[in-house]
Amino acid sequence: MTVKLALVQTHPRFLALDENHRRAIDVVTSTDAEIYVLPELYLSGYAFSSTDELARVALPTSNRYFDELLAVSKDRGVAICGGYAEAATTDAGPRYYNSAFLIADGELTVNYRKTHLFFRETQFFTPGDTGFSVIEWRGVRVGVMICFDWFYPEAARALSLAGADVILHPSNLVLPYCQKAMYARALENHVFIATVNRVGRETNSHGDGLTFTGASQVVSPSGEYLVTLPVESEDMRTVEIDPSVARSKKINEFNDLLAGRRPEFYR
Ligand code: ACM
Repeated sequence: MTVKLALVQTHPRFLALDENHRRAIDVVTSTDAEIYVLPELYLSGYAFSSTDELARVALPTSNRYFDELLAVSKDRGVAICGGYAEAATTDAGPRYYNSAFLIADGELTVNYRKTHLFFRETQFFTPGDTGFSVIEWRGVRVGVMICFDWFYPEAARALSLAGADVILHPSNLVLPYCQKAMYARALENHVFIATVNRVGRETNSHGDGLTFTGASQVVSPSGEYLVTLPVESEDMRTVEIDPSVARSKKINEFNDLLAGRRPEFYR
């Protein structure tokens, strides 16, 4: 069995939710694939200057953009993953999370809140409280992590221990290392990883100029780069993977990667 992934590398315009959403939907509806992956914060853009600014575009899980994604996923029988700024109401007041959704067949099946916040995100967002989970969709076991989670090998490892065949990794990368590091994350967990990044540049009122590094990619369990997108321009590529390849963690007749762990010594 194979599944076709679509990597949708966009250039979100800061705070232009309607425009960013429309461009993403246009690509999804004109591309033949089964699982579509959009970047982190694909709706809003990234470089917030204050919590007030973030609050103006953060959304509850019930919102009109999701309504359209739910409808498209149901009509087409597909799954769509991407990032957004989530507004949650708590007893202690509003909280804002850097979140990623997985919408499949008309349902919100995953709402993951980014565990490891990067740089100024730590000022405006609350660290995620969902942890890492894996869902099965049409026989494919799918896990989600967001961008800087890559710097913590525990994220990909937790998803792999939970049974992921493929890790979807919406990103807004600004450092030059991740695309190389994911080679190791895929190899050491024997899992597919689809990192979908954005392009373009944003500057916030603190003077941080952030250039996003594109080069979205899929790495296979044996460390092959199955597809790599351009560094500077929007693009979309599809790639077919066989998720069953990630099921066995045996790399030879003696070594099973996950069974061979010695957690009692990992202190
Ligand atoms: C990042 O986590 N957006 C670098």
